[in-house]
Amino acid sequence: MKELIYKIVEGYEPTLDEMEKILSLNEEDAEVLFKAADEVKKRYFGNEVHIRGIIEFSSYCRADCYYCGLRCSNRSLPRYRMDKDEIIECAKEAVDAGYRSLVLQSGEDLYYTKEILGEIVERIKEYSDVAITLSIGERSFEEYEYLKEKGADRFLMKHETADESLYNSLHPHSSFKNRIGCLKNLKTLGYQVGSGFMIGLPGQTLRTVAKDIMLLKELDVDMAGIGPFIPHKDTPLGKYDAGSAFLTVKAVALTRILLKRPHLPATTALGVLNTKYKDKVFFAGANVIMQKVEPHKYRRLYEIYPKDIKFEKSIREERMDLENYLLSLGLKISDSRGDALKI
Ligand code: 5AD
Repeated sequence: MKELIYKIVEGYEPTLDEMEKILSLNEEDAEVLFKAADEVKKRYFGNEVHIRGIIEFSSYCRADCYYCGLRCSNRSLPRYRMDKDEIIECAKEAVDAGYRSLVLQSGEDLYYTKEILGEIVERIKEYSDVAITLSIGERSFEEYEYLKEKGADRFLMKHETADESLYNSLHPHSSFKNRIGCLKNLKTLGYQVGSGFMIGLPGQTLRTVAKDIMLLKELDVDMAGIGPFIPHKDTPLGKYDAGSAFLTVKAVALTRILLKRPHLPATTALGVLNTKYKDKVFFAGANVIMQKVEPHKYRRLYEIYPKDIKFEKSIREERMDLENYLLSLGLKISDSRGDALKI
């Protein structure tokens, strides 16, 4: 197995069978995989972690994803929208606290027209040359194009699962083809593009996970978020088990040795499971972490999946805490925007 892992590190493209074998390694044997992934990560990023600030600016969503607490059919969740000035103020505060990379994320909320979003992006960019990532779901080519022109640098939209029929059964409002079409449009428009998927969706197999990783490679992503599924009680998947943290980290590590250069976050969902893998993932390929920066009164309501609410601190204090935590693990904090590496 070690031989296969290092062949991949040197550029060999494994078969799906070989990938499945790697994904089924036990805890002891997986250490070789983690070590190889850590070496590849260090080769590209050293020991640096990029901290991204995320502003979850609206919890309204027209989509009806079976796993997500924000799905439109969930009537028990009170919804909020931040207005333009509030979003811009929040972004400025984050910049002042040291963030050089911000993600603007929301449910699929068409209240925010391209003009509104464009103005937000433009005004944040006037304040600072912070990198702006949009994560607002499926829109038209023309809207993506407009937002790129207004200054958006990056776009995050996970493919969620590479199994087309599973995808279509979990997303009644859309289709796998449309999702992939959007990702390709974003790439064509010159965005740095992030995709990703969940581990442990009911009906997923190791074969699916292998295909998920291959799809990231085909899409030639600049970023990939891989996180465990976490059941939310007010969704149709509320009674299923959470995905495995261990398998999540193996998937991150395999993605790192195969794709090499993309930014790979330690996902928030992996943190929520609160296992040893939360830290370990930084030594198995991950080089990014996201920190919420919207006002605390909204965080509780952005309930994609259940999570603990932390003691309220300022954006600056929270950033310091996170930096200290990463430093305590022996990592370094990057002071760059963390743009995509091109090789
Ligand atoms: N568990 C884990 N991740 C989830 N997401 C949505 N619902 C869940 C859940 N129940 C992830 C999806 C989506 C991102 C915003 O959150 O991957 O792309």
